[in-house]
Amino acid sequence: MQTKKVWGVMLVGCGHIGKQHIEEIYYRDNIRMVACVDYNEETARLFSKRYSGGYNTQYGTDYKPFLNREDLDIVIIATYAETHLEIMRDCVNAGKHVLCEKPIAPTIAEAEQFCRIAKASSSKVLIAHILRHNQTYKKAAEMIRSGRLGDIRLIRMVQNHHIMNKERYMRLLEDCSPIVDCGVHYVDVIRWFTGLEVEDIRGMGGIVSRVVPPNTYDYGMITMKLSNGCTAYYEAGWTDTTASENLKEFVGTDGRIRIILSDYRHDHREEGDLIEYYDKLTETYTSINIKCKYKDMYAQICTLIDMIENDTEGFPTLEDAMAAFRIVLSCDEYIRNTLNLDQKSDDISLHYVGEKF
Ligand SMILES: NC(=O)c1ccc[n+]([C@@H]2O[C@H](COP(=O)([O-])OP(=O)(O)OC[C@H]3O[C@@H](n4cnc5c(N)ncnc54)[C@H](O)[C@@H]3O)[C@@H](O)[C@H]2O)c1
Repeated sequence: MQTKKVWGVMLVGCGHIGKQHIEEIYYRDNIRMVACVDYNEETARLFSKRYSGGYNTQYGTDYKPFLNREDLDIVIIATYAETHLEIMRDCVNAGKHVLCEKPIAPTIAEAEQFCRIAKASSSKVLIAHILRHNQTYKKAAEMIRSGRLGDIRLIRMVQNHHIMNKERYMRLLEDCSPIVDCGVHYVDVIRWFTGLEVEDIRGMGGIVSRVVPPNTYDYGMITMKLSNGCTAYYEAGWTDTTASENLKEFVGTDGRIRIILSDYRHDHREEGDLIEYYDKLTETYTSINIKCKYKDMYAQICTLIDMIENDTEGFPTLEDAMAAFRIVLSCDEYIRNTLNLDQKSDDISLHYVGEKF
């Protein structure tokens, strides 16, 4: 992408997703890695060494000293949700732009505060809903929004992980449940693909693994009714024993599409992701191959750069990210109630379950 300048970037959080961010951007002509930061100094040092891209990339355990640097423009926040608000606030107060991982925050109150501060500042803030930048999802959105499926009536989504790295998932579960952590992506997809609002939210969940952190659950299902009556569900678990499974299916009165990621294809994986399209009117099946990166981190940061350079809105907007977050959090509260777990928030206005949203 041709941009107006080389953008100075700092990565805060050199973990699983931080690595995916930096791997895709550090060598680009319009990116200069200024610093890598992690509580674990050795990890930060190795990141700064590996991903310098020919620059003198610095490292540290605290992001704050780097905020004074004039050659720093953009901060990628790839840490746990509970840290996002504070880091984002420090960054925009220092005049830096922010790409922040989802979920926005652990609670609605904090997420609202995050959005208020982001909107009031002169910096640009983009929430990292990576599927918005995925070519397969973009194609599916275009097909659904152009009416190829008729009226959309049913959305089925499953994303279960058979967890192989217990320690990492235990930490993620402390932050939030899978239907919040992954759910924000897919509730956003539902609103984006259909242009419809979620009007009714219910859910169920439970504890599947022998060991989970206190006050949380590792499996959940969120069920929704959209404003046209469409039925939608999203199921997500991170457990020791469930099978890893990925289903993304959109069913309308005139047809159906199913997204099959290349990893889940039985054959022709080299041809990329597959959109399987059934057209009821002609009774034909079409297979559409889309060769793309699942997490296109470069496209995502270029969206933020475009927001900065051309004052564009970005996608998702903060409102869209907030809407998806509210929906998954209200379902999470509902499930927490049924499991007698503590609520994440004491804001009773959050209870949308069974009500018009
Ligand atoms: N968009 C996606 O597809 C996707 C995928 C996975 C995770 N995530 C999100 O990314 C965030 C991080 O998840 P992860 O899987 O990378 O976790 P992780 O545990 O692999 O990495 C987090 C890293 O951040 C560091 N860290 C935390 N707080 C810090 C701070 N204040 N200062 C410096 N370093 C700090 C930790 O030491 C750790 O190395 C979560 O919000 C998660 O929901 C998004």
